Amino acid sequence: MKVRVCKTSDIPANSMKSFDVEGEPVMVANVDGEFYSIADTCSHAMAYLSEGELLDDCRVQCPDHGAVFDLRTGEALALPAVAPVETYKVTIESDDIYIESRAD
Ligand code: FES
Repeated sequence: MKVRVCKTSDIPANSMKSFDVEGEPVMVANVDGEFYSIADTCSHAMAYLSEGELLDDCRVQCPDHGAVFDLRTGEALALPAVAPVETYKVTIESDDIYIESRAD
């Protein structure tokens, strides 16, 4: 399902924002004008990745224990997380950001 989450101007460059998408926390990151979306829950324990730190090379670091995820693939790049997080397809239409589950 494709869901509008916000306007592009709502997420400044090199920042992240969390959204409730049908009861699931999902985050959208703006990396130098490119938007990426992944599940906002760390695969290690209960922490919001959007409250962590954006790193270079499209990576985000969990605020709790420091796991690192690739925003493009959801892959866990650093312990203690080993499982990936879900990624969402992002499309921009007239300055609106839409995300779409890849499972649909
Ligand atoms: S909750 Fe994210 S690394 Fe532990």
